[in-house]
Amino acid sequence: MSESEGAVISELGALANAHASAHASTHASAHASAHASAHASAQPSAHAEGERTPNARDAVRALRPSQIREVANAGFGVPDVLPFWFGESDQVTPLFIRDAANRALADGATFYTHNLGIAPLREALAGYVGKLHGATRPAEIAVTSAGVNALMLATQLVAGAGDRVVAVTPLWPNLVEIPKILGATVETVALTYGTNGWTLDLDRLLAALTPGTRMLMINSPNNPTGWVMTREHQQAVLDRCRQLGIWLVADEVYERLYYGDDAAVAPSFLDLATRDERVIAVNSFSKAWLMTGWRLGWIVAPERLMEDLGKLVEYNTSCAPSFVQMAGIAAVKDGEQFTQALVANLRASRDYLVTALQRIPGIDVRAPAGSMYLFFKLPGANRSLELCKALVRESALGLAPGSAFGPEGEGFVRWCYACDTARLDAGVARLRAFMEAHLAG
Ligand SMILES: Cc1ncc(COP(=O)(O)O)c(C=O)c1O
Repeated sequence: MSESEGAVISELGALANAHASAHASTHASAHASAHASAHASAQPSAHAEGERTPNARDAVRALRPSQIREVANAGFGVPDVLPFWFGESDQVTPLFIRDAANRALADGATFYTHNLGIAPLREALAGYVGKLHGATRPAEIAVTSAGVNALMLATQLVAGAGDRVVAVTPLWPNLVEIPKILGATVETVALTYGTNGWTLDLDRLLAALTPGTRMLMINSPNNPTGWVMTREHQQAVLDRCRQLGIWLVADEVYERLYYGDDAAVAPSFLDLATRDERVIAVNSFSKAWLMTGWRLGWIVAPERLMEDLGKLVEYNTSCAPSFVQMAGIAAVKDGEQFTQALVANLRASRDYLVTALQRIPGIDVRAPAGSMYLFFKLPGANRSLELCKALVRESALGLAPGSAFGPEGEGFVRWCYACDTARLDAGVARLRAFMEAHLAG
């Protein structure tokens, strides 16, 4: 055991007494203040005259490495690890989609395509987006190599060196790191944690949207918290962005993983914005059709951006793989029933896991309205990276540390519940045993 893991474990012991008497303390509010998290600068330049050290650019060297990966590496060699740390289901992509890819390959769909995607897929996506969010034309759709590439392209389109970008956190790290690769600075506005789970302090966000801000990134439903932005908040933020000419990049890859009773899709900026303003929506096939390994996604953006976006696609990937795009058509056209059944299963898994975790003393967990994660507090997680490493090494339980999603995530861990209940049961039993062993001490 490392020294810091020892410290975590003794903290767990210290916390045992506190948790025996009171749960109230677990509702401490999170860091509501907007704070700069991303000042990637200030390293001595590796490119000083005469220096020959083969280093990457300073901005790249300053990127945060993935803490989730760090935990996974700590579990390397541990037999029978239960991996709840990554954001994907344990189920394979549905057969009708795999069949479509097989057919496309058999038919020879192995060539480059148009930068913005094959026409039938852009048409199918325009129909799909149109049904969910109002009229959208194929000319307003670009096919990408999954959501993360779409985020990179959207950011490359509008933000560059020295630009100020605002992001709402806790947040999947890629959104915060991508602008930094391009030399932008990222200021974060933290959600607040309280008795209603994670909520947005709207005034604080509006105050952070200052004149000169170039871009706002919002991920709703949110990874890791499951927070879903309300329609009213979206309208207020859109109004502010319109007023100041701020680009809004909406990461809506979890829009279908929504458990509100009011709709089959989470509130979207696309419901409110016209298609010719400064709004870029990013989406993916990974979550709604279980296609993480296929690397297929899309962007909805004003038509006048598309020529420039096509150039960026050319210089990044040139196009998404052609047989994968063919499979995407099957997903979009024939996948609705599958997605609805998936969401019903995920909702049941979410509720099952919440109930099971709530039975463990000291855990503060509630059911969020979206995504496929529980982001919950537990004793010892105020050093969540060390705790997660100890959990994987000692108990073969793979959770993601809250600190991976920004400093306001410290104190929490993330559990992806996209799996069957037997696996959830096994994970809960391991967590309970770990906590009992350490809390007893
Ligand atoms: C918030 C968020 N955006 C985008 C993505 C990108 O997913 P992909 O690149 O698989 O489409 C993820 C993946 O987990 C995510 O959590």
